[in-house]
Amino acid sequence: MIFFTLGLVCDLQAQTVRGQLLDRGGNFVNAHGAGIMQYQGTYYLFGEIKTGKTWLVAGQQWEDYRVPAGGVSCYSSKDLKHWKYEGVALKPSTGDTSKDLDTGRVIERPKVIYNQRTNKFVMWMHIDKKDYSYSQSGVAVSDRPQGPYRYLHSLKPNGNMSRDMTLFQDGDGRAYLIYSSEQNKTMQVCLLSNDYLSPTTLYRRILIGRNREAPALFKSGQKYYLITSACTGWSANAAFYAVADRPLGPYKVIGNPCRGTGSGLTYNAQSTFVLPSPGKPGQFIFMADRWNKLDLPKSDYLWLPLKVASGKVVIDGN
Ligand code: GAL
Repeated sequence: MIFFTLGLVCDLQAQTVRGQLLDRGGNFVNAHGAGIMQYQGTYYLFGEIKTGKTWLVAGQQWEDYRVPAGGVSCYSSKDLKHWKYEGVALKPSTGDTSKDLDTGRVIERPKVIYNQRTNKFVMWMHIDKKDYSYSQSGVAVSDRPQGPYRYLHSLKPNGNMSRDMTLFQDGDGRAYLIYSSEQNKTMQVCLLSNDYLSPTTLYRRILIGRNREAPALFKSGQKYYLITSACTGWSANAAFYAVADRPLGPYKVIGNPCRGTGSGLTYNAQSTFVLPSPGKPGQFIFMADRWNKLDLPKSDYLWLPLKVASGKVVIDGN
């Protein structure tokens, strides 16, 4: 029993990341606003590529710091510890800012799920203009987990704005797009079509008037838990989580899952994804970004153990 307990602690610590993460080639993992997809015993990590000089977009009411949209990177791992760089899964384009993937635009928070029916890998992401006025969800598809992904288009689900987003694939094969909508005031959850390529007309408004972003949805037992941040741009704020019996809600807000020093600012980080810890029911990895707004490529990561016990979500960053 002692050995088992020690093993468990070590294993969880091995998946903890505080700061930069190196790939197997010794290079910094460049995957921000990331998500992880598991396929045939391998974990695939996808995230925003941030390179180049950070600048402040003029004329905005908020700190709209930007770098060129670098597309989406992919890394693979068998143990969530050693990461192999798989290359650029979705390439940006250059020279025409009217195009969704132009480096002058915004490509954020890419998430990938595998569709068993179609045998395709489907990527959704936030596509925007540099002033965030476009507010659309982009979709891309590939025959291989690591890509290259073929960009299809972007859209407003049922005519609604969509900024910070995530995907959630349920055990019954249904998948959902969760996104900040209505000028970030309210989130929405929308059921995707069977091929995961389009929104259906079935959607619900959740966390109404709460001004939340950075959604990360996961299931533990029979409940669905949604962690979100407040809307303070690249600056950290307090997370809260909400719980529901179904992905579409209704969601009941519970409170801040973080404990200890720094919990009021999510330990200077912002949620992006929650991954079930392999083979450990009730245990997860909370993945977050530590943004460096003045030098965005220097942003790094915080991955912490997350536990669900008696229906309560607890993240301890200390
Ligand atoms: C954050 C959001 C990020 C990015 C940033 C831009 O609040 O979660 O994904 O959009 O704003 O300032």
